[in-house]
Amino acid sequence: MKTAICYYSTHHGNTLKVAKAMTQGYDTDFIDLSTQQEASLEGYDLIGFASGIYAFAFHPSVIAFARKCLPQGKPVFFVYTYGGAKGTGTREIARLAREKNARVLGEFGCRGYNTFGPFRLVGGSGKGRPTQEDLQRARSFFQELMAKL
Ligand SMILES: Cc1cc2nc3c(=O)[nH]c(=O)nc-3n(C[C@H](O)[C@H](O)[C@H](O)COP(=O)(O)O)c2cc1C
Repeated sequence: MKTAICYYSTHHGNTLKVAKAMTQGYDTDFIDLSTQQEASLEGYDLIGFASGIYAFAFHPSVIAFARKCLPQGKPVFFVYTYGGAKGTGTREIARLAREKNARVLGEFGCRGYNTFGPFRLVGGSGKGRPTQEDLQRARSFFQELMAKL
């Protein structure tokens, strides 16, 4: 059972931290979409798309990558972190997954440390997030998801 997590996590690495914690102990490859816009996903049994929330949505690179590289009919899941207003969240990536006849197994989201724009002036929001408790919830989410496969 091999998992790929395709992620965009450039602000503080919050989303990558969550994705790494949840898949600890499982055979997982991480594909950084801030440096790589193409990859073959055919050989994976499970595919995660992970992103910080930027301007109320998943980063456009994740959507573009999924459009180009997600094969038909794969099981998928979504992971995100956000400062306080997740906006449309997973809506676009979920729509795209449906177009590819993917089986959507679930999504996990939690707050992440945010120093964007005015938040920087006040030392950021969501300090310390994701917490150990967030990471533990992420692990439980992934274990339950694996049980569905
Ligand atoms: C350019 C930019 C835009 C952001 N827009 C939002 C937003 O619309 N809503 C929100 O809740 N957080 C927003 N944030 C905060 C991030 O979602 C939050 O810090 C997240 O944990 C970043 O994930 P990362 O460290 O994995 O990149 C934004 C951050 C940046 C840098």
